Amino acid sequence: KVSLKGRDLVTWLDYTAEEVHELLSLAQYLKENPYSKSLEGKTLGMIFEKSSTRTRVSFEAGMLQLGGHAIYLNSRDIQLGRGESIADTARVLSSYVDGIMIRTFETEKVTQLAEYASVPVINGLCDTYHPCQALADVLTILETKGTLKGVKVVYIGDGNNVAHSFMILCAMLGMEVVVSCPEGYEPKEDIIGKTVDLTVESGGSFTLTHDPNEAVKGADVVYTDVWASMGQEEEAFKRLQDFKGYQVNEELLSHASPNVTFLHCLPAHREEEVTAAVIDGPCSAVFQQAENRLHVQKAILQSLFI
Ligand code: CP
Ligand code: NVA
Repeated sequence: KVSLKGRDLVTWLDYTAEEVHELLSLAQYLKENPYSKSLEGKTLGMIFEKSSTRTRVSFEAGMLQLGGHAIYLNSRDIQLGRGESIADTARVLSSYVDGIMIRTFETEKVTQLAEYASVPVINGLCDTYHPCQALADVLTILETKGTLKGVKVVYIGDGNNVAHSFMILCAMLGMEVVVSCPEGYEPKEDIIGKTVDLTVESGGSFTLTHDPNEAVKGADVVYTDVWASMGQEEEAFKRLQDFKGYQVNEELLSHASPNVTFLHCLPAHREEEVTAAVIDGPCSAVFQQAENRLHVQKAILQSLFI
């Protein structure tokens, strides 16, 4: 059994497939056995520089269900928001809490926090990654498809944080990964490179295409996210034009496998990136996916803390 005690979680690129499988098994176990005292006396500090419903509440409820405690730290209320450095914040918080979760903009803030903190640091979303989300996505795929290897997963839309973590994790676990986005909205070049590298060992594949109809052919899973992420509000109108043709609707899904599962990390904008008929329809697993945030969060916390 591999031990993840004391590790940070910034990106799945720092983990192996074996370690991810262990986390998934633990998440499945905790879904069946939600309450314990495994983290009794432990405290999680949660720094938020962006809004959150799922991440905040699933981490907080997850800590409580494992016998521990979580402290919500809005960056506007703590000295970080008044210019105290990440390094000093990391050193001080490390003397009070057993782990720190941060949701922020630049990935460098997460890596700097991890560098200076002596306790595990968990990335609760930054501009480049959303690793905790991806683990919940993969658990949902495992539950709905019964397997991971060889499953065809298609991400339609913006090559953003959610797309990055999803493609990395799915490629690592041997899935057939397809990303379809408008020109200029591709995932980051270096992350594409690392995703392709991962497929070599896992036996999966990675394809990037600008044609969403081609992308979804035979898809087992179709995933989308908002077109304008947090921090991109000013681009929202331009993006609405640029992403025309990339909406996940019933017509698009008619090219997918008849058993296709629709995923979305939420929050969603109905009639923008996805129609209500799809997200509220029979192939949608978005609320199961949202629930799974809780179970995977607990697996991550328990594995990194003890
Ligand atoms: N999917 C997700 O991270 O949701 P929140 O922004 O509500 O945390
Ligand atoms: N890509 C979105 C995900 C929100 C959970 C954002 O960064 O705002």
